[in-house]
Amino acid sequence: MKQMVIRTPGKINLSLDVVGRRADGYHLLSTVMQSLDLADRVTVGLEPGGQDIRLTCSRQGIPLDSRNTAWKAARLFLDTAGVSAGVTIYLDKQIPASAGLAGGSADAAAVLLALDRLCPDRLTRPGLFSLAARIGADVPFCLQGGTVLCEGIGERLSPLPSFGQVPVLLCKPDFGLSTPWVFGRLNLQRLGRRPDQLTVLECLRQGDLAKLSKVTANVLESVSLPVYPVLQKLKKELRAAGAAMSLMSGSGPTVFGLFYDPADCESARVRLTARCPSGILFLATRTCETGPTILPDLQIQETQA
Ligand code: C5P
Repeated sequence: MKQMVIRTPGKINLSLDVVGRRADGYHLLSTVMQSLDLADRVTVGLEPGGQDIRLTCSRQGIPLDSRNTAWKAARLFLDTAGVSAGVTIYLDKQIPASAGLAGGSADAAAVLLALDRLCPDRLTRPGLFSLAARIGADVPFCLQGGTVLCEGIGERLSPLPSFGQVPVLLCKPDFGLSTPWVFGRLNLQRLGRRPDQLTVLECLRQGDLAKLSKVTANVLESVSLPVYPVLQKLKKELRAAGAAMSLMSGSGPTVFGLFYDPADCESARVRLTARCPSGILFLATRTCETGPTILPDLQIQETQA
């Protein structure tokens, strides 16, 4: 069996606007996605002669069948690339699930990358990205990584200059939100505050977090904040604890704050952990420039079955 281990980062959305809706119900986005230094570790094995896709996970409560995006990625890759083999996938989860941090999409991207390396020359790079888009709207970004303006339903990628390693405090409440639920309740006539995307891009280039806080927005907050007032409260707590800006990530419910200084980010983590109800998860991390990476020591391991 050949196997490969991939480190695959989660993401936040530094801005998110909805600019229309497709006939199939999917929403057209303009969003800046940003990789985080918070990553799952995905081990993918290829078993020549096998047939099944077997999925295991370090965390309970994650579906281990065709409902899982990692499983879907393996199935789609094998069928499209014409590979007849079994696949084993182990997900070592660090990214909270149903959180707006693209945990499932990151795992799917890792499986695509691993299978592409384990079965070389089957798919082109654009072919791999089009498979990614069929699995989920965030998967192409997760395959790419870094700082990217994502348009269409999320699959049209325009990489942006690096945003560097900006300290991020993630606040994940003790409930999840389903992406279809959030998009399904969105009223396009009442999006509330919308991001000024041109100025957002300028602020990112300049690293101007103070100005970014004035021009960015996530229109999906118009759905989640009225239903879950704790999210508005967390945004305020983050600002009071020194964050230069705070916003909900993607379809939520995770709210994040950006800081200039890692020490301030850590102090805010300690302060919010003490002030807020237990059950809210606070994670200090930072933005990063890379997408999924093959872990060097374990690149391709060949073991005799
Ligand atoms: O593509 P993904 O599986 O992440 O999307 C889950 C659901 O979220 C979709 O079925 C759709 O209801 C909604 N969605 C949307 N517009 C997007 C992305 C997702 O309406 N751009």
